[in-house]
Amino acid sequence: MKGFWGGRRRRLAAGADLQDIPLEARPEHVAIIMDGNGRWARKRLMPRSYGHRHGADNLRTITSAAADLGIKYLTVYAFSTENWSRPREEVEALMRLVVEFCRNLDREMEREGVRLRFIGRRDNLPAEVLTTIEETERRSRMRERIQLIVALNYGGRDELVQATRALATAIRAGEIDPDTVDESSLADFTYMPDVPDPDLLIRTGGEQRLSNFLLWQSAYTEFRFTSVLWPDFSAEDLATAVRDFAGRQRRFGGHK
Ligand code: FPP
Repeated sequence: MKGFWGGRRRRLAAGADLQDIPLEARPEHVAIIMDGNGRWARKRLMPRSYGHRHGADNLRTITSAAADLGIKYLTVYAFSTENWSRPREEVEALMRLVVEFCRNLDREMEREGVRLRFIGRRDNLPAEVLTTIEETERRSRMRERIQLIVALNYGGRDELVQATRALATAIRAGEIDPDTVDESSLADFTYMPDVPDPDLLIRTGGEQRLSNFLLWQSAYTEFRFTSVLWPDFSAEDLATAVRDFAGRQRRFGGHK
């Protein structure tokens, strides 16, 4: 694993770079599709799990860098509802990494003021993963420098199906009048109704698609695609993405 201080030096350099950009111009919420772990490992003639391990280590570096840059929410795609179809060893390695991430980094996350939350289906997670993420959420809930939201067993369409089902149940119970249903009625039943939509979504690894990530929340999100493989994505790369974002004009469907 990369040493803590090595990561910190790079972070401070990245933060210092953005001193001319006011906090209001920076993204409050950044989402990342952390793609490219497998190719990163293959280039080194190593198994895919080796790439995921370095990917998890990089998530730690990037979370700290994001906090230094003033980002308040960082949502990352760790495991999709479709990822169960990967070989059993790879799925097990990913689940193990999530558990290790929660357990081994708690001290560091506490020092950095990181609140951890998980979005996605919980009904078919291995018991150890479920208890670990629930415990981590509980332990970190009062931290407020940055929220790291990990999408685990997550699918954007699945989220919308679950939200629709919950809304329909509330209507059937007479709690909501169907004539009053609007966008916020459905949003209230998504996984994180209290979190603002992502301002910027970054996908590493060279592909240019959303892969069922945050379909509802990304309606007006700015996208940035980079060919850098996730384990190589650095604090400087994040700072560059933030600088680029600050220069974009967002219209949210309105006029210039
Ligand atoms: C995509 O790369 C990446 C994943 C499916 C997993 C991402 C997980 C991590 C970065 C680490 C685990 C997370 C936590 C929270 C500890 P890929 O395997 O599809 O890469 P490829 O496109 O090069 O094959």
